[in-house]
Amino acid sequence: MIPHNKPTLGRAEQEAASRVLASGWLAQGVEVEAFEREICTYLGLRDGCAVALSSGTAALITALWALQARGKRVAIPAYSCAALRNAVVMAGGEPATIDAAHQSPNIDLEQAIKSGAQIIIIAHMFGIPTRWHSGAISVPVIEDCAQAFGARIDDRPVGLRGTLGVFSFYASKMLTSGGQGGMVVSTDSALVEAVRDYRQFDSRRDRKARFNLQMTDLQAAVGRAQLSQVDGFLRKRKETYSRYAAAGLPLWPTARPAGTESCNYRAVVRAADPADVISRLKADAIHAIVPIADWELLEVPEKVPRAAAVARTTVSLPIYPSLTREEIGAIIATASRLIQSAQEEPR
Ligand SMILES: Cc1ncc(COP(=O)(O)O)c(C=O)c1O
Repeated sequence: MIPHNKPTLGRAEQEAASRVLASGWLAQGVEVEAFEREICTYLGLRDGCAVALSSGTAALITALWALQARGKRVAIPAYSCAALRNAVVMAGGEPATIDAAHQSPNIDLEQAIKSGAQIIIIAHMFGIPTRWHSGAISVPVIEDCAQAFGARIDDRPVGLRGTLGVFSFYASKMLTSGGQGGMVVSTDSALVEAVRDYRQFDSRRDRKARFNLQMTDLQAAVGRAQLSQVDGFLRKRKETYSRYAAAGLPLWPTARPAGTESCNYRAVVRAADPADVISRLKADAIHAIVPIADWELLEVPEKVPRAAAVARTTVSLPIYPSLTREEIGAIIATASRLIQSAQEEPR
């Protein structure tokens, strides 16, 4: 079976983990500091603009705490991961779910702005960036880049246009820090310090309640090994996406916002009957999934028709960097055959 997703792990990650184990220091320490510095360098930020956390959800929660989200209306995309709603609720905010934009998996920004929300979370779903003019939004923006490390807006990495950017390093993301991990970035030093303050839960005189949301040195060392290879991962994903496109697979969305570059986190095709396509792919030993089903939407489907349509008509194909040429060929062969037979079948 060709898995739908798989982390790309090798000797570099094994050596990184062994180095930390041999050092005897496992908790947050020098590796986490180095990972934060290297993320800043990669994104073109000055040192001190990144804070590592235990997950993307922890990054979202601390970003919301830093923006003092308690009691505020927070616009979130209906077509996204439950982590967004969970983080808003845990930070004491009031989620306002917004439908997807036309022909896009991403939030309808116009509707988000009109909703009167005091904070907007923009998630770059499938690795496809939402582009907006900085002056167009007057409230703080959290850019959720969990699926979008390496994607670009106007030739700058995603995560830098919003007030804060958050990343996930979960096992199947663009890079992983040993299975779980996250990062908050911002050029606003007061916000960065607020996130750091929440993370430092122990030995505090002010007695404020804080969670332990720290990343370990073991995680950070694996994350550093992955970061050093991420340009290769991005190239490989781009090549695979191009092969799927050249083979005529009905990739969706067909157009990307001008001035943006996707990181190809997902290769999504449109299908009238996703369950049927998934079971036929499975018969050929290919695991595909529905990226977000209608019951997983962050709003009842009737209220978000565009998000519901995306949820009901999309299938995500494998696209991770370690796919072999033969596996890519097999995916193309089966997916093309399915599409052809769907076209031939009477409707
Ligand atoms: C868009 C989005 N935001 C946030 C998250 C949460 O990240 P994590 O799983 O690292 O908590 C995820 C992933 O699971 C995601 O896809």
